[in-house]
Amino acid sequence: MKATAKANSNIALIKYWGKRNSELILPMNSSISMTLSRLFTTTTVEFNDSLKQDEVNLNEKDLEFGAEKDSVIAFLNLIRKKAKINSFARVASSNNFPTAAGLASSASGFAALALSASTAAELKLNEKDLSILARQGSGSASRSVLGGFVEWLKGRKEDGSDSYAKQLFDESHWPEFRMLTTIVETEEKKVKSRAGMSQTMKTCALYNGWLDSVHEDLISMKKGLKDKNFSLVGETAELNALKMHATMISTDPPIIYWNSSTMNIIHAVHSWREEGMECFFTIDAGPNVKVMCLQKDEKELTSRLKKIQGVKDLIACSPGKKAELIQEHLF
Ligand code: PMV
Repeated sequence: MKATAKANSNIALIKYWGKRNSELILPMNSSISMTLSRLFTTTTVEFNDSLKQDEVNLNEKDLEFGAEKDSVIAFLNLIRKKAKINSFARVASSNNFPTAAGLASSASGFAALALSASTAAELKLNEKDLSILARQGSGSASRSVLGGFVEWLKGRKEDGSDSYAKQLFDESHWPEFRMLTTIVETEEKKVKSRAGMSQTMKTCALYNGWLDSVHEDLISMKKGLKDKNFSLVGETAELNALKMHATMISTDPPIIYWNSSTMNIIHAVHSWREEGMECFFTIDAGPNVKVMCLQKDEKELTSRLKKIQGVKDLIACSPGKKAELIQEHLF
């Protein structure tokens, strides 16, 4: 009863911000993402009758107690219930990127945990059910189960059975597409997305405007991806991210994830675009900026971005593969 899975992170091109059911993690709107080739989590899970409690090790550190461990245990409980088993589990998980750097580790983390733990518990889940399971760890994890470009359907049902991710195009559809993921100077983020989105829904006067505009953005994004129309994809993604941040900034109390390095990159991308360079940005619930470009401009943009004050590192990602089982266990 032991299995290991590897899952890539993803970045939303059309964002999810707000839940219609926070227990089952059902979103207010559908979202579209790209799975990121070079940012991944590897997780090994073993259910073992000799264990007296769940043991969780993250990036070679045992988690003693706290919210992080609790969320893993809650997730294991879902699996135990589904598989009708009682044994405790040993979990080891490691990211190939710095966890505190503000890159989406919950997406790859819960996708890898969903696949490894469900396999170890001998549940044979199809992609849809795996995505539904991963969603209950973290919404964005529902999308990391699949590769390439992915849509997470918001669904309508109360029980969440129609809220899952499905692939729009696989990773070979547009191999020239790049997501240059910058890592800027950052502390651990102050407002987690879970708390942030709930506060936005409660207090932001612009929230309904955001929801009303997402539908059009989803249509434009699907068309842009299908036609490999880079400027349509880039313009739609950038404006969608800015609209989401407008709701965050106008939440009470305000949630401002940007720092001065974030602003430096935003202004640089706009001025490069005025010069004729094809590049656009997107930003999640943190200060890091991801810059979209095509392979032909990757080298030049990487070198320009690395010169911006506050940029510590940059990881260039292409459309990545779906979550998969691997043979090399972490213990
Ligand atoms: O599912 P979470 O808790 O990782 O929230 C994701 C929220 C955003 O990253 C801001 C948007 C998104 O769709 O990934």
